[in-house]
Amino acid sequence: MSTRTLVRGGLVVTAAEETHADVLVEDGRIAALAAHGSEAAAAWTAERVIDATGRYVLPGGVDAHTHLDFPFGGTFASDDFESGTRAAAWGGTTTVVDFAVQSVGHTLREGLDAWYAKADGKCAVDYAFHMILSDVDGSSLKEMDLLVEEGVTSFKLFMAYPGVFYSDDGRILRAMQRAALNGGLVMMHAENGIAIDVLVEQALARGDTDPRFHGETRHALLEAEATHRAVQLSRVAGAPLYVVHVSAREAVAELAAARDLGLPVFGETCPQYLFLSADNLAEPGFEGAKYVCSTPLRPREHQAALWRGLRTDDLQVVSTDHCPFCFRGQKELGRGDFSRIPNGLPGVEHRMDLLHQAVVDGHISRRRWIEIACAAPARMFGLYPKKGTLAPGSDADLVVYDPAAVQTLSARTHHMNVDYSAYEGRTVTGRVETVLSRGRVVIDRGIYTGRAGHGVYTPRSTCQYLG
Ligand code: URP
Ligand code: ZN
Ligand code: ZN
Ligand code: ZN
Repeated sequence: MSTRTLVRGGLVVTAAEETHADVLVEDGRIAALAAHGSEAAAAWTAERVIDATGRYVLPGGVDAHTHLDFPFGGTFASDDFESGTRAAAWGGTTTVVDFAVQSVGHTLREGLDAWYAKADGKCAVDYAFHMILSDVDGSSLKEMDLLVEEGVTSFKLFMAYPGVFYSDDGRILRAMQRAALNGGLVMMHAENGIAIDVLVEQALARGDTDPRFHGETRHALLEAEATHRAVQLSRVAGAPLYVVHVSAREAVAELAAARDLGLPVFGETCPQYLFLSADNLAEPGFEGAKYVCSTPLRPREHQAALWRGLRTDDLQVVSTDHCPFCFRGQKELGRGDFSRIPNGLPGVEHRMDLLHQAVVDGHISRRRWIEIACAAPARMFGLYPKKGTLAPGSDADLVVYDPAAVQTLSARTHHMNVDYSAYEGRTVTGRVETVLSRGRVVIDRGIYTGRAGHGVYTPRSTCQYLG
């Protein structure tokens, strides 16, 4: 039996256009859109009608960078696939692309199968995987080809974290050469981890152990240098490149220069770099530990370059890099030694709202909001137009958004499984009202109506920005 839902009277906003349109959903997909008040729309009937008058109707958010149930620094990210994807739904994100991990000495297959098992039956919204390469050798290079065929079409490598996820330039070059052949997209954590480790060792030896030294030792120029090197290696390999969690203005400049040359180089930043700063890392009484992530939060002066990059398309995507660790018992592992603070911030719930605040503040347009949060990540990672837009045939992943509601972000009210908010007390304008995931209402005006296991694994094609 077919089930139809009609979303009526809202302003439909996609990356391409804004129209007052009604949206007909049937069997989990968008069946049709028609101008509100038109004869066609007036003739539609449905079992369920959602009144979106005075609201925006948006494609569900695509968060292309999460770490659920992620092992780091001797502990695990505090959100698993159940709590993390539920929080995503609350925030209007209906697809997450998470990072499966190849551990050193193990195959990609083992890592990917472990992540399929972690997520299976738990997710409230749809999900896909990238693969972290920690051990590039002949056999893992061959396995990359198989993963691309299987729908895992992007591979993260680390120029940081020596002894953990780090790959040297030779391994990076080999992985890029392979990606050039198999159509995969290399995602780079661009920080010079070897140099950073020297600065960390020197800081700790001086007794500079507070969280703010996390930021000072992970120097902006060491992000820029690694970004430059990653670009040159990708040119030599003839491969495209996507640089994750860009925070330094000097790194944005490297990406802009590469794009000015017409290179297939892409960049992502995250809300924490746009809305938080090194001032948070310097908060007294070990509070700064709440803001330890890598790349680190930068002095406020860097933010203008990130906003500009988002406007000029030198940065294409805003993801969260959601990697939460509780303050109690997890961030606290680094008391007296900032290098032991697990790296990562919670944020999967707040990306759509914070970026709407950026619209309100005049940093980006409404359509650019949807571009960087929905359409571009879907295209970048081979999910478009199934995800990332509202068009006939697309999955009915849809958000009814109240642009006038005012809310205060807080750990007391958020749904992420973490005991603090990086945005505690911040007031934002705009709020998710209703969320559909493949046609099913998962958030209904402040009530969670989804269920673990509704979300399905979604294999991806290769990057759709490449010919
Ligand atoms: O601090 C961060 N970003 N933690 C997650 C791992 C990574 O490098 O993305
Ligand atoms: Zn093994
Ligand atoms: Zn990273
Ligand atoms: Zn990450």
